[in-house]
Amino acid sequence: MCGIVGALVNEGSVVSDLIEGLRLLEYRGYDSAGVALMDARGITIRRRAGRIERLEAALAENEASSARAGIGHTRWATHGVPSDTNAHPHTDTEGRIALVHNGIIENYAELKAELVASGVKFQSETDTEVLAHLIGRELSRGNDLLQAVLASLSRVRGYYAIAAITKTPEGPRLVCARQGPPLAVAVTKDGAYLASDVLALIKHTRDVTFLEDGDVADLHIGRADVWRTDGTSVVRVPKRVEWDPEEAAKGTFPHYMLKEIHEQPDVLAHTAFDKIKEEKGDIDFGVPGFSDSDLRGIERIAVVACGTALHAGYIARYMFEGLARLPVDIDYASEFRYRDPVIARNTLAIAISQSGETADTLAALRKAKELGARTAAICNVEGSTLVREADATILTRAGPEIGVASTKAFTAQVAAAYMLAVRLARARGVLTPEAGRELVLELRLLRPRMEQMLGERIVSEVREVAEKNQHQKGFLFLGRGINYPVALEGALKLKEISYVHAEGYPAGEMKHGPIALIEPSMSIVALNSTGLVHEKVRSNIEQVRARGGRVISIGSDRESWAISDEHVEVPESSEWLSPILNVIPLQLLAYHMASLKGCDIDKPRNLAKSVTVE
Ligand code: G6P
Repeated sequence: MCGIVGALVNEGSVVSDLIEGLRLLEYRGYDSAGVALMDARGITIRRRAGRIERLEAALAENEASSARAGIGHTRWATHGVPSDTNAHPHTDTEGRIALVHNGIIENYAELKAELVASGVKFQSETDTEVLAHLIGRELSRGNDLLQAVLASLSRVRGYYAIAAITKTPEGPRLVCARQGPPLAVAVTKDGAYLASDVLALIKHTRDVTFLEDGDVADLHIGRADVWRTDGTSVVRVPKRVEWDPEEAAKGTFPHYMLKEIHEQPDVLAHTAFDKIKEEKGDIDFGVPGFSDSDLRGIERIAVVACGTALHAGYIARYMFEGLARLPVDIDYASEFRYRDPVIARNTLAIAISQSGETADTLAALRKAKELGARTAAICNVEGSTLVREADATILTRAGPEIGVASTKAFTAQVAAAYMLAVRLARARGVLTPEAGRELVLELRLLRPRMEQMLGERIVSEVREVAEKNQHQKGFLFLGRGINYPVALEGALKLKEISYVHAEGYPAGEMKHGPIALIEPSMSIVALNSTGLVHEKVRSNIEQVRARGGRVISIGSDRESWAISDEHVEVPESSEWLSPILNVIPLQLLAYHMASLKGCDIDKPRNLAKSVTVE
């Protein structure tokens, strides 16, 4: 996802520092890059689609080489294709400011309409440019940059990390703000710096201030004044960062997997929030292939996928059936491709894949197409083979997933499937706008609940569960209904990275086999959230206890906690979305088990991130 850097120095130039900072943020993934440099003449903007080398080539020798202030950006496209014009920084009509932005401005369409009506001409397709014009307009009303940013942000709804520069008679001004995506600042006696990741700051100083949501920082040489968006000032104490560069590439996290687990609330916002149309109780994917007329004729759905993506598909089945009232077939892509599947008339085949390059998934989708199905992809990589070949695509906006064990891509896939189920239901007329509104609002409510799941209390509860169970011989994950696939995913995560034998089972099926395995050295992870089947799962827990098994219950059903050896509390949510919350402690459990066993968490043995061969 996008990366932001900024610098203000006493002497010398910021050019090489900005470029180096952008390189350190490359791991986040990007499709274009740009800088705005300020010298005595004013602001020079250079931006290019593609790699940072193209940007460097565009910075002609000596150009703005005396720049004492600047901002830089690596863009991971959300609004508008990757191109030179959509790359950041963006500016206002008069070219008074330059702005870089990471995140989504959800109400950009209405703000854009207002600005266009007042005569503003837009250069790019981005949501960011709206904010550049708002800030420019505030400057022309006589505000300074800090006031202009504060006033403009009060108009904006969404998630952002931003940095803006402008020229004043006293010298350059550099202001940044955070609401959602990370942003840190650091000062030395000769400079002031900002970046999305401390990795780009620690060469200047290891004393770094992490901005909090709602903070706006006004940077000066040797000083960062921090304000809240309501205009009150606040003191943020810098923290000492003790990393070597190798570790720092993972941000503040020891492993990519843990970092990716923690990114999930933001991933949900990026994947879903700008598509939610509350007033209509509907979803607008903003891409062709999902209109009423596209979807109305669909009579059946066939899902194909592999690994974790298949588990997201199993959850999707409950949603497509339950919400859109469509029959659903689902299969391992590797099985589907070699069966002689019957594809009914008006089938929509949906392939789910993080990478969009998994060989079996691609082959299964091609087969479904050959047999006459229309095709759609839920995929995380724009421009991947799957996206190119599917008739229509919903992009999950999880950003690059580096840890081999998929985490944030999974929750993004589940959110995307939920949105598609709502869209299908609305297109087919089986869901009223009022009922649709309640469903889409649940998505918004999910973000703070996910944050709660990732707060220190629950994370340390899960760590404790891992410590107590680390020597267990095996694990059985049980779930029912929409949380049955979560049990499959919990077991997969555990075996993938900690090499402990684990199985996922529908809780009701336990008595037809796995019950024979139950003994004290077997831990049973029971997923039980309040809903249609929580009483049934409670009975299954009792059956385990009666045979001496150790029960860890995970979910919102309080009565299950009382009959379990250990439990992890999950906040109440809509049952449809409970898998997104319930899977988080399972991801953390696998992570901590692997960590206690000293396993190579990000690169587990024998596994590949993207399986491009059969
Ligand atoms: C590999 C990865 C899994 C992933 C699966 C499907 O097995 O290790 O994490 O779920 O491939 O990959 P895809 O990119 O198609 O989602």
